[in-house]
Amino acid sequence: MTTTLGNALYDQKLASVYDRMYPIGHDTEQAVAFVAALTPPGGSVLELGVGTGRIAVPLAGHGFTVHGIDGSEPMLAELRARDPQGTVTTRLGDFTREGTGRTFDTVTLVLNTFFVAVTKEQQVGCLRLAREQLAPGGRFVLEAFDPAPYHHMEKPDHSMRHLDERSIMLDTLTVDRSQQLMLSTHTIIDGGAPETREHLLRYAFPFEIDLLAELSGLRLVERTEDWAGTPYTSSSLRHVSVYEADPDSPWGGCR
Ligand SMILES: C[S@@+](CC[C@H](N)C(=O)[O-])C[C@H]1O[C@@H](n2cnc3c(N)ncnc32)[C@H](O)[C@@H]1O
Repeated sequence: MTTTLGNALYDQKLASVYDRMYPIGHDTEQAVAFVAALTPPGGSVLELGVGTGRIAVPLAGHGFTVHGIDGSEPMLAELRARDPQGTVTTRLGDFTREGTGRTFDTVTLVLNTFFVAVTKEQQVGCLRLAREQLAPGGRFVLEAFDPAPYHHMEKPDHSMRHLDERSIMLDTLTVDRSQQLMLSTHTIIDGGAPETREHLLRYAFPFEIDLLAELSGLRLVERTEDWAGTPYTSSSLRHVSVYEADPDSPWGGCR
């Protein structure tokens, strides 16, 4: 598996089906409520990997100033179509390499998007940028799956998603445990020739993320299993983790 940045950007084809891959449902509503409760009234939110605005657009509807970064122009085009009033401002860019030069009350990195940084150095770089973009008293929220079940996979996994009555997506998942890399392929079958896209992710365990966060000048404030606040336990398969800048961090100031 090769480890290049930008491998998990969503192109035109994936952008066109993204909202059917992750339809807005209860979980999205809970995510919006969670971030809204964390952010001061009328405050500001930065979403890293904002995508089609699944969370950003409803957050702007709560009266927050919402800005999003994404490396995919087709995804940002879908966001603009969802948000014709332009309530969410966006920037085309790589959140693992560049900041906005601004600070925000809340910075979010949801739906496993942290794992697009495919080395631990890139992951630390990404977390440092998140910290630098936090306003005083701000919070950084990261949602990710717990890799434990995948880390022990012995052979590739296959699954299928229903996109609509005329199209499906076949997903395969292959894990390189030695590198903590996960290669997923998405094959879209929608009446034309099947098209396959690949995404490479570097998964990290929750306590590993905490350590990388500490090296980036962040400290964990709370961790729950989901956006509804279910307690995080040994059987949790994902986590929603909230961090704050640690002013006493011996690592925080250096890049
Ligand atoms: C799983 S989607 C999540 C989208 C959105 N946050 C949501 O919750 O629906 C991941 C998004 O991150 C973007 N992305 C991946 N790598 C990126 C990078 N290095 N810099 C900026 N955006 C990136 C993709 O283009 C895609 O829109």
